Amino acid sequence: MARVLSGIQPSGALHIGNYFAMMKRMIEMQHKSELFCFIVNYHAMTSLQDGAELKRNTLNAAMDFLALGLDPEKCYFWIQSDVPEVTELTWILSCHTSLGLLERSHSYKDKIARGLVPNTGLYTYPVLMAADILLYDANIVPVGKDQKQHIEITRDIAQSFNHKYGEIFVIPEEEIQEEIAVIPGVDGEKMSKSYGNAIEIFEDEKSLKKKVMGIVTDSTPVEEPKDPSKCNVFALYKLFASDTQLADMKERYLKGGTGYGQAKKELLELMTEYFRPYREKRKIFENDPAEVYRIMKNGADKTREVAVVTLKKVKDAVGINY
Ligand code: ADP
Ligand code: TRP
Repeated sequence: MARVLSGIQPSGALHIGNYFAMMKRMIEMQHKSELFCFIVNYHAMTSLQDGAELKRNTLNAAMDFLALGLDPEKCYFWIQSDVPEVTELTWILSCHTSLGLLERSHSYKDKIARGLVPNTGLYTYPVLMAADILLYDANIVPVGKDQKQHIEITRDIAQSFNHKYGEIFVIPEEEIQEEIAVIPGVDGEKMSKSYGNAIEIFEDEKSLKKKVMGIVTDSTPVEEPKDPSKCNVFALYKLFASDTQLADMKERYLKGGTGYGQAKKELLELMTEYFRPYREKRKIFENDPAEVYRIMKNGADKTREVAVVTLKKVKDAVGINY
């Protein structure tokens, strides 16, 4: 059975880009694979240095996954920092990673271009991510397109390590779904927690309405035909609509007579209906955070049993076990 692994940063509230590109797929895969799903709080720390906020976001991310249907009995579900072996492996891998490999990271260059003042953690972020993946012998890593290069870096690190020490690591493959590779935010750029353009999964209803009605469109008048492939509202509608709803909306776009305001209203209705049952379920966890922490700690204990096995192999190979 394939081992599927992916993580998400609690650097802000989780949004519908995270949901469709990663969370929903992971939740579906818990039934057909050995699933490893975790909240990468050490990664989030590279851009968020506010203890209270990091703690709050981490708990919220855990509640989101549980409310959306991740079953901790069926998979490995934990908070990254609760398995400290990952930071040990990160150091060992760092000593086997050339600076050149990290210098080529698009994600690092992007963040700097957007004005983030880089710390060393941001620079070595891909090494921690490689440790995340290699520690658990993952075969498949479901992610959005922005993470492709990070998985390639992981493969590079693993291959050169194996070349030196023998077959220690499993070589992972990314799994990217082209049709949801990049989900646009309300401004049409990639939706991201850090770009201020995200629609949160559990956004309160008033602000959800405000955001959906504020999605950027061109100024084609109501009666004129519109191009669905260039429209942010349509791109989001596609994620929630059934085939018939989608075909109908597409026809109305091409024919003209349906304005963007109308399309936004219909999108809002679909989104609200879609997440309604999950909202109800989330309330149960919101009322019992101690139970959520208990679930996460249990998950970490179970995950550590896997981590120590790989770490021992690595330590034996590099000569720091006696
Ligand atoms: P963010 O950019 O919001 O901080 P993360 O980097 O934590 O999101 O991403 C978590 C997962 O969600 C990754 O697999 C990433 O590829 C995916 N993802 C995030 N935003 C989008 C998006 N707008 N479209 C497609 N996938 C996305
Ligand atoms: N870098 C990933 C992101 O921002 C999060 C992440 C950390 C991850 N470790 C991982 C994803 C391991 C997949 C596997 O989305």
